[in-house]
Amino acid sequence: MKARVFSGVQPTGQLHIGNYLGALKNWAEIQANYESIFCIVDLHAVTTYQKPEELRTKIRETAALFLAAGIDPDISSIMVQSAVSGHAELAWLLTCVTPLGWLERMTQFKAKAAAQETIGDGILQYPVLMAADILLYQASIVPVGEDQSQHLELTRDLAQRFNSMYGETFVMPATKLPAVGARIMGLDDPTQKMSKSTTGAGHAIGLLDEPKAIQKKIARATTDSNPGVDVENMGPGIANLFTIAQACDTGVTKERVAGMRYGDFKKLVADAVIARLEPIQKRYREVTAEPGYLDTILERGRQHVTPLAEETVRRVKQAMGIYTR
Ligand code: AMP
Ligand code: TRP
Repeated sequence: MKARVFSGVQPTGQLHIGNYLGALKNWAEIQANYESIFCIVDLHAVTTYQKPEELRTKIRETAALFLAAGIDPDISSIMVQSAVSGHAELAWLLTCVTPLGWLERMTQFKAKAAAQETIGDGILQYPVLMAADILLYQASIVPVGEDQSQHLELTRDLAQRFNSMYGETFVMPATKLPAVGARIMGLDDPTQKMSKSTTGAGHAIGLLDEPKAIQKKIARATTDSNPGVDVENMGPGIANLFTIAQACDTGVTKERVAGMRYGDFKKLVADAVIARLEPIQKRYREVTAEPGYLDTILERGRQHVTPLAEETVRRVKQAMGIYTR
């Protein structure tokens, strides 16, 4: 049996090249070697308020971008989290074995809590739901960007804790980061992670951005005042652009960019990004033009994963002594 892969993206904001280079690209590359499940995590999205109409649209847009980025629905399952009730059900059962202190220590929780006046309980529970997503399918590999590493450590801690309390139940999932691009930084501020929730025209490159917009954003990206690329000592802005270009096109090497003037270097980076995104944008237009196609894919994904989820929930309930039919 092939090892199982699970990963997810929240259907919020604009998916950007950080999401692509940190996660989606990696998914497409490894899917053939595993039994993969890629999930649109709408239950995570509503831990912060989403306009209902917008959320409905974003769920479909995210599914279309999975396909556009090269996820092959004949090999992998693409599914929506809320369509399989086991995610919410297992999350509750795991909540009951989670020490509160573990959740309060999460850096993403602390950052989100600091930014909000009232902190919803969902923000605190967020990593438990994420653990449930992964453990529900006994996934052994979770391809994500670096910002999810701490959540995955918590997932393993929870699995271990459950196993020692109730007997061997869960597979231990490993974190899989991409070799290049695990943490793409904002173009406007290379000390901050590129993020869907940061607004500002020059911050992120959207996967559906037009070539002209991409050129403009990269041309304006924050760098330093050196005359040209010093490959042994790149400032954070240049290092980030180099990582982006290298992740988009393996032909972009240090030798090739050494000594380039920033203007020329930025043009090379923009060309690499535009060339990478062009087939993705073309495929996006195709999959969204075909009526009913996305619904068919999501329904197929749901049907494929539901029995796997039901089996785990049944085993967990049995292990805990909860009523099962
Ligand atoms: P999110 O946008 O939080 O739903 O993230 C979806 C996936 O993209 C996760 O695997 C993240 O780790 C990854 N990701 C998000 N932002 C970045 C970034 N700036 N660099 C690399 N990976 C990222
Ligand atoms: N928390 C992840 C993010 O914001 C999304 C996510 C939810 C996820 N469940 C997951 C990622 C399970 C990997 C595995 O990026």
